[in-house]
Amino acid sequence: MKIFFKRVAIICFIVLLYSTFIERYLLLTNENEIEYENLPPEFDGIKILVISDLHYGFLMPELWIKYIIHRANSYNPDIIVGVGDYVKKRNFSEELKVVWTYLNQLHAREGVYFVNGNHDHWANEPLALELLEKSSNSVRHKYKIISRGDKQIIVAGAGDFWEDELGIDKALMNVSSKTFTIVLAHNPDSADIVQNSHVDLFISGHTHGGQVILPFFGITPVIPVNNKNYNYGFKKNSQGTSIFISKGIGWSILPLRFNCFPELPVIILKRKKSFEQNSRAIPSFKINVFATL
Ligand SMILES: [Fe+2]
Repeated sequence: MKIFFKRVAIICFIVLLYSTFIERYLLLTNENEIEYENLPPEFDGIKILVISDLHYGFLMPELWIKYIIHRANSYNPDIIVGVGDYVKKRNFSEELKVVWTYLNQLHAREGVYFVNGNHDHWANEPLALELLEKSSNSVRHKYKIISRGDKQIIVAGAGDFWEDELGIDKALMNVSSKTFTIVLAHNPDSADIVQNSHVDLFISGHTHGGQVILPFFGITPVIPVNNKNYNYGFKKNSQGTSIFISKGIGWSILPLRFNCFPELPVIILKRKKSFEQNSRAIPSFKINVFATL
């Protein structure tokens, strides 16, 4: 019996070391396809890379942030979206200033778009909002148009669910319900707030995928959201609108990840070719892991 407990203790120690020092730095870029009937054909195959929950600061060094920005740019996506929580520490401005020097180095053919998360507000709210607007890529409470030929899609943004006014209806006030619309919202619970506006896809982070996913069961014991279904990947809200939730990159509470690799996910929007099915959006969950650290 004594030997049994000794072996269990050794295994736990190894898992802890792996989760703290190895998996947290095994950055994956997963490609996730989703099909829509109402996506203009001109945008079929458009690739959106998501940066979420960088949490620059303790145990997330500047060199690591630099590498992540390099990886995002190297993927050469059509669009890059940042969905908030770029820093970790509360009441601390320095990390915000540093992380934005890197966020401003992101580039993509059809634009980079940002919103803030709760940690950005907690670090220094006025400065976080100032740096967001100074980037010229803020979509908080507004939208930007992406055009291909005479067809357009919209990227709009919400304020943080906990610390800001969501403002989705206000942002989309002048957008036709026929226009394909993406909304960046740090916290996926935002998608459960009833809106009058038409949204095709929410892109969120905030949950870190739970940081620990129990093998075989896929259970995420700790996720900081009201809707416990919103842990990671593609989900749908009660109105049938799709939400993509990134597992993000950083950590909170404990500096570990187990079976929940940090990620720079890519969403590939596909034009649905068959008109036999009536549902507006069907997540296909096709995932290709193409690179690690
Ligand atoms: Fe968050």
